[in-house]
Amino acid sequence: MNDKQTDKPVGKILQPEPSGMIEVRIEKLVTGGDGLARHEGQAVFVPLAAPQDLVRVTVKERRKGFVRATVDEILEPGPGRQDPPCPHYGQCGGCDLQHLDPEHQRQAKADIVVDCFKRVGKMDVSELLTGSAAAADMGYRNRIRVFSNPVNHYGLMRRGTHEVVPLDGCALMPEQFNRDILNWLRMLPPAEQIVVRMDGRGGWLVSIFGSPKRLKVMRKVIAALPEGEPPAPGCEGLLFNNLPLWGHDYLIHEIAGHKYRVGAKSFFQGNHTVTEEALGLIREWIIELKDEGSLGVMLGDLFCGVGLFSLALADLFGKVVAVDSDANGCRDAKNNIKHSEAARGKARVFTGRLAKILAQPDLAPPVMWNASFCIVDPPRAGLGKDGVQTLLEVRPRHLLYMSCDPATLARDAAAFVNAGYVAKKLRVLDMFPQTSHIETLLLLEKSDG
Ligand SMILES: C[S@@+](CC[C@H](N)C(=O)[O-])C[C@H]1O[C@@H](n2cnc3c(N)ncnc32)[C@H](O)[C@@H]1O
Repeated sequence: MNDKQTDKPVGKILQPEPSGMIEVRIEKLVTGGDGLARHEGQAVFVPLAAPQDLVRVTVKERRKGFVRATVDEILEPGPGRQDPPCPHYGQCGGCDLQHLDPEHQRQAKADIVVDCFKRVGKMDVSELLTGSAAAADMGYRNRIRVFSNPVNHYGLMRRGTHEVVPLDGCALMPEQFNRDILNWLRMLPPAEQIVVRMDGRGGWLVSIFGSPKRLKVMRKVIAALPEGEPPAPGCEGLLFNNLPLWGHDYLIHEIAGHKYRVGAKSFFQGNHTVTEEALGLIREWIIELKDEGSLGVMLGDLFCGVGLFSLALADLFGKVVAVDSDANGCRDAKNNIKHSEAARGKARVFTGRLAKILAQPDLAPPVMWNASFCIVDPPRAGLGKDGVQTLLEVRPRHLLYMSCDPATLARDAAAFVNAGYVAKKLRVLDMFPQTSHIETLLLLEKSDG
């Protein structure tokens, strides 16, 4: 977060320190969603601010080279500022961009990506980047974790705390969750946390976490259900502390015509529509490479989860190598491949850390790796030095990097570029509207063929 630029200060001190009240003009948003302003040579980070806002803020925390402040008053709103649609906004820590209209959110995210590449990767991607297409900006999430407060009124954590803000509903979740499921959860014996996953077609899975003492009473609730009836309409499974108590311990998600079994402990993308858009886009890029005659015969799905890319893209390749360190995800991936006409017989799943698996000589011959198309979709920390090195040892011809953190993406991209790769496509996806999370796709090509 420490931005080292030291432009001239903007704004003036309104009151002498230590009250710390200052007036600043927000220049832009930075990763994490805070507004960035400058004051007396220092960077000022301000949550819930919009680009070009003139705001009076109070400094809350001083660090070497930067301060953190909160908005007291908006003196001049920046373009794109709007009244947040959700009544819990500002209290609940789930969203941090609702004060910007969706178009300005997308623009701010594209600017953050360009900025990260410039600062972290020393790359100018302003011409390369294509912004995201508008997607549904509310009701798009397929998963939520709610926490209970002392009176069993479920909610999300207050910004920057572990205090629960009780919710009447979450605007990012589908209506079915807000209208039916949340009310039903409130009738259950009190729990500490509840995760609800939805398949987008009316089915949902609930994982309840709480004191083991509650298991007995949960069992009684289940036993009292009329024979053959779900605990609530659409419920496909109920787990308590990961122990299946009723129904399945998985959901079937359908994306781009492919069926994915996703267990209660496996990762799956949180926005069905934009995941489908991403698959469409990657397919388009692969077909362009195929038409150019530069596509290899093998797909590496290198942080495969339940096999999202393996199933959806298998028809474009002769062989698929899928790798993930999570045994639960791999179990689902194997199952999904077994049931997929496109992937069955072509795709193999390897469970373990990427570096260890890719070092296996019998996985694929070097010549096949060399010409392969590899998708990497790591967690927020990115590939890092070791991950980049692992990939440089097999040197795929094409690398598709799906990233949920533009700063780590820019860092890793620069390492690939320094090792002879060229950035060919860069796209921001509208995966997480109303929040500062940024999902990006980057296609890299080895310049020496
Ligand atoms: C963002 S998820 C992507 C999953 C999948 N591509 C999808 O879209 O559903 C990241 C995945 O990376 C896996 N992972 C994390 N570190 C890993 C490592 N060192 N080696 C292999 N897989 C790893 C996690 O288990 C997780 O399934």
